[in-house]
Amino acid sequence: MGFVDYEVKGKIAVITINRPKALNALNAEVLDDLSAVLDQVDQNEIRCLILTGAGEKSFVAGADIGSMSTMTKSEGEAFGKKGNDLFRRLETFPIPVIAAINGFALGGGCEISMSCDIRIAAESALFGQPEVGLGITPGFGGTQRLARLVGAGMAKQIIYTAKNIKADEALRIGLVNKVVPLEELLPAAEKMANQIAAQAPIAVRACKKAINEGLQVDMDKAIVIEEKIFGDCFETEDQQEAMKNFCRKKDDPEKVKVVDFKNK
Ligand code: CAA
Repeated sequence: MGFVDYEVKGKIAVITINRPKALNALNAEVLDDLSAVLDQVDQNEIRCLILTGAGEKSFVAGADIGSMSTMTKSEGEAFGKKGNDLFRRLETFPIPVIAAINGFALGGGCEISMSCDIRIAAESALFGQPEVGLGITPGFGGTQRLARLVGAGMAKQIIYTAKNIKADEALRIGLVNKVVPLEELLPAAEKMANQIAAQAPIAVRACKKAINEGLQVDMDKAIVIEEKIFGDCFETEDQQEAMKNFCRKKDDPEKVKVVDFKNK
């Protein structure tokens, strides 16, 4: 793929946005390449994805300002839709996605990280929504996801002032899950991805669906969504094997084993 690399590592895979000359900025081609990589993911084999940026300086420095600079209103709206469609696909992708944020996560970079399930940042990462300084709004979900993640007040402060925040502040306000030194970023993301990959895949995907869908509705409707999804996990081979294993373990601790989940 031109601007996106895809590497399978056992049950996990790493997607790398690779346009370092433009600090991995997102133009239409990069968005198309990302979409094509998602098509390529073998959802029977891969249990967790990591999304990162090439190089040591930038995760994604935003949507491509050069290509946006001459857009008309309708082209701007269409570009927003293109980004939003892709980011929504990532957010609702059946497999969890961890963003490993290795530097600038500005504008569309912060936005794509927020469409991932979990964010791990390098100490050098810098977050922000600088769009109002460019005469536009955040257009790849930033006005919506930032408020949902850190609360409306903090989101408004970050968006209205266009002031970037460092990784430790991003951690403090709950924008990222964890901050590690740059050299430990991919190992930390892979370790977490492998921990996820070792769990029952049907159950992990069901959790993602239940959390995402439940957050869109009121609690009465949300618990009904949970009950249905909870029920769907029963009678799977993985549920039966894991629970049988637990019961066996109670009778005889020698019989403890790590369940090798089959995704069935
Ligand atoms: N779009 C296009 N090109 C970009 C880019 C972007 N968002 N960010 C960086 N680049 C390019 C630069 O033009 C430069 O290219 P050349 O070498 O050809 O000149 C190259 O990447 C390196 O950048 P700098 O020389 O500027 O590097 P720096 O270390 O001095 O500064 C930076 C780094 C602070 C990230 C700075 O590049 C910058 O401010 N970039 C723009 C960040 C931004 O405003 N992002 C939001 C975009 S709008 C958006 O994302 C809208 C949306 O919601 C959909």
